[in-house]
Amino acid sequence: MEHEHVRDVDPAVADALEGEVDRQRSSLQMIASENHASRAVIDAQGSALTNKYAEGYPGSRYYGGCEFADEVEQLAIDRAKELFGAEHVNVQPHSGTQANQAVYFAMLEPGDKILSLDLTHGGHLSHGHPANFVGQLYDVEQYEVDPETGYLDYEGLAEQAAEFDPDIVVSGYSAYPREIEWERIQAAADEAEALHLADIAHITGLVAAGVHDSPVGVADFVTGSTHKTIRAGRGGIVMTSEEYADDVDSAVFPGGQGGPLMHNVAGKAVGFEEALQPEFEDYASQTVANARALGESLSENGLSLVSGGTDNHLVLVDLRESHPDTSGGDAEDALEDAGIVLNGNTVPGETRSAFDPSGIRAGTPALTTRGFDEDDCRRVGDLIARVVDAPDDEDVVAAVREDVETLCAENPLYE
Ligand SMILES: Cc1ncc(COP(=O)(O)O)c(C=O)c1O
Repeated sequence: MEHEHVRDVDPAVADALEGEVDRQRSSLQMIASENHASRAVIDAQGSALTNKYAEGYPGSRYYGGCEFADEVEQLAIDRAKELFGAEHVNVQPHSGTQANQAVYFAMLEPGDKILSLDLTHGGHLSHGHPANFVGQLYDVEQYEVDPETGYLDYEGLAEQAAEFDPDIVVSGYSAYPREIEWERIQAAADEAEALHLADIAHITGLVAAGVHDSPVGVADFVTGSTHKTIRAGRGGIVMTSEEYADDVDSAVFPGGQGGPLMHNVAGKAVGFEEALQPEFEDYASQTVANARALGESLSENGLSLVSGGTDNHLVLVDLRESHPDTSGGDAEDALEDAGIVLNGNTVPGETRSAFDPSGIRAGTPALTTRGFDEDDCRRVGDLIARVVDAPDDEDVVAAVREDVETLCAENPLYE
């Protein structure tokens, strides 16, 4: 990827941009929330639409000159409706977090009650962590996964909802490797007469492809990020029924944002078009098959997986029993030196701090985009285990780095 216009003006930034492309090409991107957008999506996101103010919605803007902005946003909306079968879609949220904030702002008053999954059990900051304004503005109680199995405890959640009497129940997670049974959470929300927000940020692509059950038409609101499994460039999305359409639109703009990032909306339109193609279903199925193969390989190498495996695009490794002297942060650092980029992650029943937790989380969306199959992912599992077994051994790290480079060369990126 050339950045010649940037280089003419600013060689320092051009060097950093090219360094980043090289880093992505020559190492394994296994942060479960990341992916490699196509050149088409990246071009759309780097387009002249970054210049355009388009406050409002297609056909009803506060500025002139919006004909192409309207065209692009309407395409993004129509394609998202087709992909997800949603009645109403807002494609303007700048991120998944802002999509969630829009739903809270649309439906809740300060002090209202949110029931959501604890961060250390796989929830997200924007679901009500005290460090996020959501945790400070609303009355948040959190549910947990079953400590024995690592699976969601649907009955416990229903009991907690009946007792806490929330205004909204939040489902959808950042580090939950299993299929989510939306209807069971909906039943708990119904019983408590609460709304239900299903945040599919991580699994947006799996849901779009039909590889994971969809909460659209089940939950009152479905939010997502557009840059994770769906590869449509950075941003967020809210889906809902006609009943809440105006409330959500007003909460996104003018409630929480000013002018939409129209270049990102263009990226979403292009990415959704890609996701409508039959190949995208193969991609999503392969992502899940790859995560399963990765998990099997890690288990065979003696690493313990939360819930024992995966149904989606990620695995969560609990290092406490197998490697009590290695934290998730230690493993993350050594793996990065070996060219495998993932993140230390909290695990259910976490005993360390979120800054240096007891687990690592690894995902296959980006590897699958660059062509990895199950055999490749088994090899990656072996490599991860070798480094986790000897994070301080420079020879092991160097040897793994060589194998990583071979795998990267076999699966080139952005040619
Ligand atoms: C469940 C969940 N919701 C929301 C988000 C936030 O997405 P964004 O980074 O687009 O704000 C994430 C990010 O990883 C997430 O995992």
